[in-house]
Parts: sequence; C-alpha cells; structure tokens
Amino acid sequence: MAEKEVRVAVVGGSGYAGGEILRLLLPHPEVRITQVTSESNRGKYVHQIHPNLRGQTGLRFCSAEDLRECDVLFSALPHGTFAERVADFSSMSTHLIDLSSDFRLKRDDLMQKFYNRSVRTAWAEHFTYGVSELYRTDIRNTRHIAGAGCLATASILGLYPLARAGYLSNTPIVIEAKVGSSAAGASPNLSTHHPERSGAMRSFQPTGHRHTAEIAEHLSAVSPHDICTTDIHFSATAVERIRGILITAHCFTENCPEKQDLWKMYRQTYAGEPFVRIVKERTGIYRYPDPKLLDGTNFCEVGFELDAETGRVVVMSALDNLVKGAAGGAVQAMNVLLDYEETTGLEFAGLHP
Ligand SMILES: NC(=O)c1ccc[n+]([C@@H]2O[C@H](COP(=O)([O-])OP(=O)(O)OC[C@H]3O[C@@H](n4cnc5c(N)ncnc54)[C@H](OP(=O)(O)O)[C@@H]3O)[C@@H](O)[C@H]2O)c1
Repeated sequence: MAEKEVRVAVVGGSGYAGGEILRLLLPHPEVRITQVTSESNRGKYVHQIHPNLRGQTGLRFCSAEDLRECDVLFSALPHGTFAERVADFSSMSTHLIDLSSDFRLKRDDLMQKFYNRSVRTAWAEHFTYGVSELYRTDIRNTRHIAGAGCLATASILGLYPLARAGYLSNTPIVIEAKVGSSAAGASPNLSTHHPERSGAMRSFQPTGHRHTAEIAEHLSAVSPHDICTTDIHFSATAVERIRGILITAHCFTENCPEKQDLWKMYRQTYAGEPFVRIVKERTGIYRYPDPKLLDGTNFCEVGFELDAETGRVVVMSALDNLVKGAAGGAVQAMNVLLDYEETTGLEFAGLHP
C-alpha cells in the first residue's frame, strides 16, 4: 500500500470520460484531485458541467496552462491533442494516464494503416496498454498508461481466453459491436442530435474501424500466433442507449473446442479477476452479458455459446463504455500502478432493474 495521498490532475475534465474519472476519483480514499481543466469552461464549478457531482467537490475548472505539479495526470482529451502536449504533461507529473488512442499501439504498420501517422516511438515505449487483465505485471512496472478503446476493451476481454489458448490464429473473427451514444463524447453534432439519434439503430462503421488495430495487436501479444487485422471483421452499430456496449463475436475456428474446453478456458483465464464475470446461465432473461446491468460499473461480462454443427464459437461481451471502457479501466490500471487494492473506488455493483 502506498503511504502518501496522491495528487491527481484531470485534463479535459468537462467531457464525458473526464466526468467519469472525477466521479470515480473524488471518493477514492488514496488520491486527491487537485486540478481539473477545461478551456471552454474555465472558472466554472465542476458541478455546473457535471451536475451528478453536486456537493461532491468545490473545484472549478482551470486552463491546462495553469496546471501545477502533480503525481498522476489523467488526460481525457481528444485523439492527437494529448500527444501534442505529452512532453509538457510529463514535466509536470510522474505518471500520465491517457484515454485517447495516441499511445495504444506499438506497431507502426498498424498505426500507419488505421491512423495514417507513425507511432511516436520515443514516447510510446514509456506507455503500457491499460487493460489490467492482460498487462498487470507490465503496469506495475510502467510509468505511463495508454487507456484502451471502449470497443477494443470489450472485444479483447471477450476473446482473450480463446486467443491465449491459440484458437484465433488464421481464423476469421466477425465482431459486431453495438454501442450507445455517449461513446461519441459531449460535443454535439448532427448524428448525436436527439431527433436523429433517438430510436436509431445505425451502422456507422461497418468496415475499417480503428479499434481493429488494438484488438489485433493486443490479442496477438497473448496468443501463441499472430492475429492479423485482416482476420478481424469488425462492424459497429449505434443503438438506443446512452451508455453500454455489446460485442457479439463469431469465431470460425478450424479446431473447434468442445463446450467443456470453452468453460475451462474462460474459467482459468478469469479466475480471480475482480472485474470480469462469466455470464452463461441456463434460465432467466439475463442468460448472457447485457450492458443494461452494467451502467456505471467497472465490470465486463463475457459469455459464449458453441454452435457445434458449424464449429462457430459465439462470444458475447458487455461493458459500460465510459467506465470499464474508459475511466474505470484507467482507474483500475492506476490502482495497479500505484500498488493500491485493484478494486479501490470501483466496487459499485450496478443497478437492477
Ligand atoms: N466516450 C467514450 O465512451 C470513450 C471511451 C474510451 C475512450 N475515450 C477517449 O477519451 C477521450 C475523451 O472522450 P470524451 O468522450 O470524454 O470526449 P468529450 O466528451 O468530447 O470531451 C473532450 C474533452 O477534451 C477537451 N478538449 C480539449 N481540446 C479539445 C479539442 N481540440 N476538441 C475537443 N475537445 C477538446 C474538452 O473540453 P474543453 O474544450 O473545454 O477543454 C473536453 O473536456 C477521447 O480521446 C476518447 O477517444 C472515450
């Protein structure tokens, strides 16, 4: 257990992911939020933008220009913006935890293909991908964390047991991802405008989704063989929810595992994991993972089914994109990095109904 209270600054704190970092860290017993930035809201009280935090903090937003020294700096800035300022931020804070995609990839070919730019190698090597279930040991020994993408987190945690056991090489993996509106962030645009978004069930990225790169790179890291981006057929659909992701992955493996092998793989991989629950009930309406039960929580639920006739393994994975898929996953990684109990500040069980 670390001994002294840790000073945390949250940059981009007026956005949805930044607001969730604040919600999770304000009651965290080991850290103290010292500064929160927003350029467009500087001087305003945090609760004026995040009304759910009324009475939780008297902090006001400041400009990133006014940042002072801290121990951990969380960044919830848009892609590209963090990388431009990483040197400045690093001079102010021992640890950086970035939620954008800027340092999620180490492979330059994937960065070029999906982001049309190079990996910033000098910095990238100091960042560890923030999925604690895969990289716990590395996170303990790192300085900085690159928070994972929300759709990537759900996909990776759903497929990790199969990848680890070697079932996903040279295998077409078809991933259909359904996602709520908060994944698009707080800035309004035509597609998030209520009359356009409400009631929608809209394919918005049937091919070429950037998270394909993260999924391939980080599943390859735990698999005995490389998993190529061309084996991953990822499509994303916007659905009628504010929070929540449901991944349905169809894996057409050559050596189809037996049902009991699947159970064994999933149980062995996730035994002792505090935030991954295997959900596969025989009866009831919640037999498989459902994001409805996960709003506000740091849990990822994974389930599977075997179509023995066709050899298709269907994997379902659900989470809250703003928590396990962003702020919660990042706080979990911070807990690991600073040697706190991994679940600190993240125990909220969720709501039902
Ligand atoms: N939403 C999700 O489900 C989710 C999941 C995983 C990861 N992430 C990542 O987390 C980061 C934040 O996402 P978000 O959904 O919270 O976004 P958001 O709601 O749009 O918030 C963005 C924040 O960045 C600040 N900002 C600074 N420079 C900006 C610029 N040039 N353009 C726009 N905003 C700027 C904004 O406030 P000021 O302009 O006032 O400073 C705001 O506080 C992104 O990198 C995103 O990819 C989001």
